Amino acid sequence: MGGLTWRPMTEADLDGVVAVAAGAFPDHPEDRACFANRLALHPAGCKVLADARGGVAGYLVAYPWRADDAPALNTLLPGLPEAPEAYYLHDLALTPTARGGGHAAAGVDLAVQAARDAGLSTVTLTAVNGAAPFWVRQGFAPRHSPAMAAKLAGYGADAVYMIRTV
Ligand SMILES: CC(C)(COP(=O)(O)OP(=O)(O)OC[C@H]1O[C@@H](n2cnc3c(N)ncnc32)[C@H](O)[C@@H]1OP(=O)(O)O)[C@@H](O)C(=O)NCCC(=O)NCCS
Repeated sequence: MGGLTWRPMTEADLDGVVAVAAGAFPDHPEDRACFANRLALHPAGCKVLADARGGVAGYLVAYPWRADDAPALNTLLPGLPEAPEAYYLHDLALTPTARGGGHAAAGVDLAVQAARDAGLSTVTLTAVNGAAPFWVRQGFAPRHSPAMAAKLAGYGADAVYMIRTV
């Protein structure tokens, strides 16, 4: 699918973001307020893949966070850690027609750059949907941490906590 470009997310994109998320993560629904919360807390880590008409064909949400930790799904954060240790990639999702063109890999590059800009040297995420092989292709490796075991349960049986040094 041509004509797709990554750009900063704005509040006007939130309905489109929610629609892409609902299609991409049917087993892990998150409310519009959750995305609005992340956008308000850390706009530098929120991007959309816009189509030629400005519509949302994909999105990326990431923010500074603690090491060996992942926020519970569909929760509002009162704030970000004062001393973050990692850049947490909360979501990366594309509509089915936008996939397969390298745009997701380009989104990962943007998250990596945002992590560096935030002064953080690791990017972490929780892989779901059987996406761990995609993340390995993007330089991530599974990280087994006792602290994460209980939190991962809330993400489903196939969830894998992963880390990449940047
Ligand atoms: C995961 C997702 C973002 C990948 O998007 P995509 O458009 O297929 O990715 P790209 O075209 O940028 O692919 C980049 C590379 O990853 C590879 N890749 C893509 N999906 C893969 C998968 N499931 N397993 C292994 N490799 C994969 C591509 O072949 C490509 O390899 P190359 O660099 O050798 O050409 C997309 O499938 C999606 O939105 N899925 C639903 C949401 C989701 O599961 N997100 C991740 C949850 S943690």
